[in-house]
Amino acid sequence: MNEERQPESVLRATGLAKTYAEGSLRTPVFDGLDIEVHAGETVAILGASGAGKSTLLHLLGGLDTPTAGEVYVAGQKMSALSDAARGKLRNRALGFVYQFHHLLPEFTALENVMLPVLLGGTQVPEAAARARELLESVGLGHRLGHKPGELSGGERQRTAVARALVNKPACVMGDEPTGNLDEKTAANVFGQMLELNRAHRTSLVLVTHDRSLARKLDRVMELHEGKLRQL
Ligand SMILES: Nc1ncnc2c1ncn2[C@@H]1O[C@H](COP(=O)(O)OP(=O)(O)OP(=O)(O)O)[C@@H](O)[C@H]1O
Ligand SMILES: [Mg+2]
Repeated sequence: MNEERQPESVLRATGLAKTYAEGSLRTPVFDGLDIEVHAGETVAILGASGAGKSTLLHLLGGLDTPTAGEVYVAGQKMSALSDAARGKLRNRALGFVYQFHHLLPEFTALENVMLPVLLGGTQVPEAAARARELLESVGLGHRLGHKPGELSGGERQRTAVARALVNKPACVMGDEPTGNLDEKTAANVFGQMLELNRAHRTSLVLVTHDRSLARKLDRVMELHEGKLRQL
């Protein structure tokens, strides 16, 4: 691609390889993937079940360690950082939306969204104000005090999206973030992510099985037989 100005890279991986090894069982997933995501860019990752999409996302987000290759988040080489520094960078620069939300059941929607802000060292009143504002923007202003068990599936998913965006990360990564929602709610949650993405110029890297959602993103990649190709 010819780009007139060099956009800032929020996520970059070179020569990425992963082989799971448990006892004598070795499961090679891929060997030598390269990917770069620029600031504000939205990328969809498609691929069959078992192709390695979740594995790739975990490596890019520093949740797992590659067998070979390097991951750079906001220009910083993940392997060169201490665990503490890596955790801090992750909390500041990345937001995750898992397929099954992973909200803390004992905490309210507001508290769940406040948590990453508090971890970043912000005081409670400001964290609460930011969390409230974001929950309002995803249409949950009337559900702040509900715990995950008292929210509908779509409301939980929207809470998870708010939590992923609350630190205004450089990049939000979603592993089928709308995968377990009905079509209408999925479209709504996806729309909220795109809207918040536009508002904050946050990059999106979304694993999805939904090609019509994928087409709404800037770039569509497919992971197939250990190779990542642009569609
Ligand atoms: N901890 C693990 N140990 C061994 N093998 C694993 C482990 N995690 C995943 N795998 C294997 O690695 C391959 C890729 O798994 P991954 O979860 O990345 O696939 P995926 O593309 O996300 O699939 P899906 O669409 O079903 O979520 C699969 O064949 C899986 O069985
Ligand atoms: Mg997966």
